[in-house]
Amino acid sequence: MDVPGIDPGRIPVHVAAVMDGNGRWAQRRGLKRTEGHAAGEEALMDAVEGALDLGVRWLTVYAFSTENWRRPTDEVRFLMGFNESLLVRRRDELNDKGVRIRFIGRRDWRVPKRLIRRIDESVALTQANRTLTLTIAFNYGGKAEIIDAVRRLVDEGVPAAKIDEKAIARRLYDPEMPDPDLLVRTSGEYRLSNFLLWEAAYSELVFTEVLWPDFRREHLFDAVREYQARDRRFGGLSG
Ligand code: IPE
Ligand code: IPE
Ligand code: MG
Repeated sequence: MDVPGIDPGRIPVHVAAVMDGNGRWAQRRGLKRTEGHAAGEEALMDAVEGALDLGVRWLTVYAFSTENWRRPTDEVRFLMGFNESLLVRRRDELNDKGVRIRFIGRRDWRVPKRLIRRIDESVALTQANRTLTLTIAFNYGGKAEIIDAVRRLVDEGVPAAKIDEKAIARRLYDPEMPDPDLLVRTSGEYRLSNFLLWEAAYSELVFTEVLWPDFRREHLFDAVREYQARDRRFGGLSG
């Protein structure tokens, strides 16, 4: 689909998003923080639609960080149940749209078994789809991902001299995932919060004041317009 002001020949292949600001969105309305998370579902679905409209091939969203365990138990419990039910509610719809669901993150004992089951089912259900890969970063931390890759290198007995970028990249959570071209963060926070540390080395960063529950495909289009106005040099000179 053609979107005004967007060059269809230079659509970012991979867009990553830090879905932030749910709690503030709710608090501003006198609601509980968890209601902000619930309202984020609509934003996610609209962002997926926007990615499909543009022909973005990979969309990765930060749903729960390795640091989010520091939140109150009730909120953590809500997020576990919410993400599980979201998958059940939305996976058929996503599957019909040609979306392949994938996950990156640590499957440690703190992640409920039921959620792991839903994740595995959703990944299996949608594995043949190719239109858009929606990767959900859950119990994800960029440092944990690099640590896990290093552990694998050591376990496999890879000699130090053989360790290069490729050797590490091949051992990240999803070796097939291309590096994000564009990384968007909502809610006016200007940091990565441990998201895709390795992969975002050359991503274009776009920050918006919009709180995640208010995010809609138009905001994604705005971010892509900003992306297309950037000069990506990768350490070289302008082409
Ligand atoms: C992002 O919204 C969702 C998660 C971290 C799970 P927040 O819950 O961080 O919302 P704010 O930043 O407190 O407003
Ligand atoms: C980042 O948001 C994690 C997710 C959106 C899942 P946070 O709200 O946890 O980040 P900080 O704590 O403000 O850095
Ligand atoms: Mg936050």
